[in-house]
Amino acid sequence: MSRFILITPSTEFDAQLRQAVAGLQGSVRTFATDMLPDDPQQLLAPSPVATPAEPAAEMLEVVVLGPGLRVDDALRFATVLDVCWPEVSVVLVAESEPSLVLQAMRSGVREILSQGSDPAQVRVLLERACQYHASRRRTSAPASSETGRGKVIGVFSPKGGVGKTTIATNLAVGLGRITPMRVCIVDLDLQFGDVASALYLNPEHTVTDAVTPAASRDPLVLKAFLTVHPAGFYAICAPDNPVDADNITPEQIGHLLTQLADEFDYVVVDTAPGLPEVGLAALEKCTDAIWVSGMDVPGARGLRSGLGILRQLDLLPENRHMVLNMADSKVGLTVEDLESTIGAPVDISIPRSRAIALSTNRGIPLLQDQRKDPAAKCLHGLVQRFHPDWHSTPARKLHRRVVI
Ligand SMILES: Nc1ncnc2c1ncn2[C@@H]1O[C@H](COP(=O)(O)OP(=O)(O)OP(=O)(O)O)[C@@H](O)[C@H]1O
Ligand SMILES: [Mg+2]
Repeated sequence: MSRFILITPSTEFDAQLRQAVAGLQGSVRTFATDMLPDDPQQLLAPSPVATPAEPAAEMLEVVVLGPGLRVDDALRFATVLDVCWPEVSVVLVAESEPSLVLQAMRSGVREILSQGSDPAQVRVLLERACQYHASRRRTSAPASSETGRGKVIGVFSPKGGVGKTTIATNLAVGLGRITPMRVCIVDLDLQFGDVASALYLNPEHTVTDAVTPAASRDPLVLKAFLTVHPAGFYAICAPDNPVDADNITPEQIGHLLTQLADEFDYVVVDTAPGLPEVGLAALEKCTDAIWVSGMDVPGARGLRSGLGILRQLDLLPENRHMVLNMADSKVGLTVEDLESTIGAPVDISIPRSRAIALSTNRGIPLLQDQRKDPAAKCLHGLVQRFHPDWHSTPARKLHRRVVI
């Protein structure tokens, strides 16, 4: 049995898919026909032509309903597959118009692939389909001990311009290396968010789409609204128009973060300065909060009073990570001074760095660039705090004194 089955009369698409699969493990078996079988079991019949590239031990993970099939037939067949083999991911090749997305979702189609997609996009989508297969197998396995909830890591600061977006985007890149395609960054600076610019993305969909009733009801629709970043994670960027942001409620944001935590290992949340209502809704869903301060007394004081209010409201997430950004030993302040002003120890200190300023302007986070820079080392240290093995290393205390 092959890992991928493709049904299509199009030899051109067959070649396209095989090119995309070349970097993945597993083989493709193509049924070159525009007729779908009545019974999915027919897909499992031994191939009449011996294909050495089709080892018997592979498990079927993805069925691709390619171009040249009637859409109605394809959707009907997808429904049958969903009932017979619920763990197999079905990919439909079609243009994803909103009406079709809904129909496809109801038929159990996991992904919609545009025929014009390039091999890299096809590959990412197939990887996603395989991950879905793996997660369905895991959840149907009786002995699973997984909680199924990912970490929600919010990046906050009372003051603007201290480096929240820089930290959030680098964190997404770093975590994407630990768990590829299992990370989603969300820009909750709804009015002036610049995650898209910091990641050089030109998103088709934004938070506005991700909170629509269709997306909030079904993870498949929500996934159709995510933007893939080439470094191996997803993004939901802020609305293009600040006016659209006014129509998004804190309840919708809370629900969106819950949905994402169900789907991803890590959800990274970039926020607007201060604590607007949407930020508070995010805070309630965060397992971890990264608090960012610059090296200035007013900023540190603002952070102290913000933390005090949140403590009174019992809104502080379980885990706190204090980051001192743009650290500079020549501004007449020591880490100890800042710690006593903030009222909490600093966990990570990131130096002022030209490489960071440059990376923002290029839209390539420092950790994506793999440039050797002292700031990159510190950002890497921040990423490691969220590594699944971090707590099991005895030398790693949650809070420990940093040196500038
Ligand atoms: N460690 C650093 N060294 C030098 N420049 C930095 C550093 N961290 C961030 N910057 C620069 O500071 C500017 C503001 O950073 P960023 O956009 O991440 O802040 P922010 O807190 O998200 O701002 P806002 O509150 O407006 O959303 C950017 O141009 C970025 O390149
Ligand atoms: Mg920002």
